[in-house]
Amino acid sequence: MVVSIEKSVMLLATYVVATLGAGVGRCELSPGVEVSCLAWGTLHITESANAEAALDIIQTAVDQGITTFDLSDVYAGGRAVERFGEALKIAGPSFRKGIEIVAKMNIVGGGYNSSPEHLSTVLEWYLDELGTDYVDFLLLHREDYLMDYEDVAQTFRRFQSEGKVRHFGASNFQRSTYELMDSKFPLVTNQIEVSVRNWSAIQDGTLAFHQQQNTSVMAWGALGGDGWGGLNPLFKTSGEFANSQGFSKIRSALRSVGAEMNCEEDVVALSWLYSHPSGIVPIIGTMNKERLMRQATAVSHPMSREQWYRIASDIGVPIP
Ligand SMILES: NC(=O)c1ccc[n+]([C@@H]2O[C@H](COP(=O)([O-])OP(=O)(O)OC[C@H]3O[C@@H](n4cnc5c(N)ncnc54)[C@H](OP(=O)(O)O)[C@@H]3O)[C@@H](O)[C@H]2O)c1
Repeated sequence: MVVSIEKSVMLLATYVVATLGAGVGRCELSPGVEVSCLAWGTLHITESANAEAALDIIQTAVDQGITTFDLSDVYAGGRAVERFGEALKIAGPSFRKGIEIVAKMNIVGGGYNSSPEHLSTVLEWYLDELGTDYVDFLLLHREDYLMDYEDVAQTFRRFQSEGKVRHFGASNFQRSTYELMDSKFPLVTNQIEVSVRNWSAIQDGTLAFHQQQNTSVMAWGALGGDGWGGLNPLFKTSGEFANSQGFSKIRSALRSVGAEMNCEEDVVALSWLYSHPSGIVPIIGTMNKERLMRQATAVSHPMSREQWYRIASDIGVPIP
């Protein structure tokens, strides 16, 4: 399946819509399966003082056109889903209908569990905590070396026929495991790490593979963070990575292009992802409303091909 041209045209259309003030716009993860072109992740949602404060940042995201929310049962030991659910309950049922919920699962203490029993238990827990009848996306959070792909596919079919899950995907799957799962049950996305700091998916053919599959990836660590422990080593100005030479090189490359594009470094980092023709959907995780609103403008800050490659060479990525 080939999507690159349609995806590029669609992405360009998104830029126009966003420029006209309709927020981040809509993107397809696979044909007919839409999300907002920027998603917001709940890894840090428990930093909010209470459910009202959580709803405030969720509403700020929605006001920017961000309707896709990424959850995992392991974030804050399950408390992230609880807090998101409390916020949804205050917002009411019509609010839930206007958003897409991405529910990741299969990580358990010290390993992974993708058995039908475990997936069913976790899905029911999600539905209960969120006060909803369905989630839009169920993703297997990480590769489970012991998983029975046929059992998982049967479980997915059951969840879909019960109306409890609309679409299915993977996260952090390499090409071979993604292909195997996709051959048993069609997946719509792979949520993986991609950023100006981590080029692996661009250089090792992962993004090309997903273009061929007609699926777009959702990118975590999109701002160069490592996704762990609340750190974003690239943008946090304190902590053990603050003075790392590699990171200051990346920051300065982003700053220099940002000066030309008239935007901040984090916006440049997201715009850099949007420039890729595979239609990457970045996930951001800030709990700061000002940063959220600023980062949501990235779709309306396209960069040139020359700027994209200049960032690469400035940070030392070999361009033969
Ligand atoms: N599938 C997976 O395996 C996986 C792994 C990791 C994450 N995720 C998902 O991806 C989402 C995003 O995670 P992420 O780590 O990539 O988020 P992120 O956007 O890098 O945010 C992480 C931290 O960076 C800080 N930050 C962001 N922009 C900043 C800026 N301009 N200046 C200073 N600090 C800044 C934020 O602090 P403030 O709140 O103070 O702004 C936040 O605590 C998560 O919420 C989660 O849903 C998925």
